Amino acid sequence: MREAGLEPARPKTQVPKTCVSAISPLPQTHTKALSASIWIGDKIRGKLAMYQNGPKPTTNEGHGTMSLTPTPADKFTFGLWTVGWQARDPFGDATRGALDPVRTVNELAARGAYGVTFHDDDLIPFGSDEGARRGHIDRFKKALAETGMKVPMATTNLFTHPVFKDGAFTSNDKDIRRYSIRKVMQNIELAVELGAKTYVCWGGREGAESDGAKDAYVALDRFREAFNVLGEFVTDNGYDIKFAIEPKPNEPRGDIFLPTIGHALAFINSLDRPELVGVNPEVGHEQMAGLNFVHGIAQALWHKKLYHIDLNGQHGPKFDQDLVFGHGDLKSAFFLVDLLERYKYDGPKHFDYKPARTEDDKGVWESATSNMRTYLALKERAAAFRADPRVIEAMKASNIPGLGQSTLNAGETWRDLAKDSFDVEAAGTRGYGYELVDQLALEHLMGVK
Ligand code: GCO
Ligand code: MN
Ligand code: MN
Repeated sequence: MREAGLEPARPKTQVPKTCVSAISPLPQTHTKALSASIWIGDKIRGKLAMYQNGPKPTTNEGHGTMSLTPTPADKFTFGLWTVGWQARDPFGDATRGALDPVRTVNELAARGAYGVTFHDDDLIPFGSDEGARRGHIDRFKKALAETGMKVPMATTNLFTHPVFKDGAFTSNDKDIRRYSIRKVMQNIELAVELGAKTYVCWGGREGAESDGAKDAYVALDRFREAFNVLGEFVTDNGYDIKFAIEPKPNEPRGDIFLPTIGHALAFINSLDRPELVGVNPEVGHEQMAGLNFVHGIAQALWHKKLYHIDLNGQHGPKFDQDLVFGHGDLKSAFFLVDLLERYKYDGPKHFDYKPARTEDDKGVWESATSNMRTYLALKERAAAFRADPRVIEAMKASNIPGLGQSTLNAGETWRDLAKDSFDVEAAGTRGYGYELVDQLALEHLMGVK
């Protein structure tokens, strides 16, 4: 059953035919400023085709307003641990009861999700014997079959049990490192059985509180060794699954190894089978480090390494808030969805959030729907922004498409470039007009009419 409160707010009849916004024409002064800033004018006319060579921006022009009701085609997924979080925090007890994974599958399916993901211990309580393990798996599989829900990704809990207090793959203790890799291998077998194509590795305990306690140089040797062993394991078994490293700067460790997207991308290049490993960046994790998540995702896409993504919300550098997607930095979320849609990211849109500790069961499921509605609303707003003739004109005037042109012309070398001359002073005085583009983005985001 859907929660009535979160059904699409606008009745169909009031919905405009296209997403092209009805923001009123710009005041005259803006228009003047705009034409004054057309510094490159004729130069770029006719060359805009170059900008179009990349993935074509997706618009919904002429196709009516997109629905805010999620469907499996949207590929929205949730971890069992997200809606299932009982809201225990360092200061207080659980405020909600445990959720049966079978109920989670049913509730999410009813709300239009595509699938669920899990840590081994979310599905099979730590320490279960083989019989109990099978029982948990079988009833979960039955719920998946009944609802059509998929399991596109699975992951390992290498952080809850005290054995992992000093890390898993990078623990100073060799036996713990060996045990950790075994735990991952066992759950990869289940992931493959359930049809998962991505295996996320989040090293929450891989790190230190003191730099004297851990050799951060040697830790990378052990980290690499673990991924090399796991790469060999899936290759030898012919498993069709890839790994996605999830960076995080800190929490629960004081400092975590591979803290950002950039660190992870560089590390992947050192592996025996780099083609098997990509990244699973999370909104909040990069923002905790004060980084621009949109830029990080652009780089992951550029390297063809965005294997998976964790969407949530965060208000700047502080503890990992795991808010509903868009409930933190909304403007960044808008440009993130714009980026994912324009560059046709087609993996699962995975929400790794925590329903606030204040919420009861009803609030949990409403917040699950909120993540999906926010994504769909931002997708609509971003498409309307890109299709708006005023935005297209403002971007042209700002020479934003100019970045798509190669710096050297066909056949040129550095010798041609060395001979060039250029009016540096004139170029230094021109205005770029980006404020206008930014304002138009905000007005689309706010739904200003
Ligand atoms: C966190 C992480 C985790 C991981 C999960 C998958 O900050 O706790 O984001 O939620 O995504 O463990 O490996
Ligand atoms: Mn997180
Ligand atoms: Mn995550």
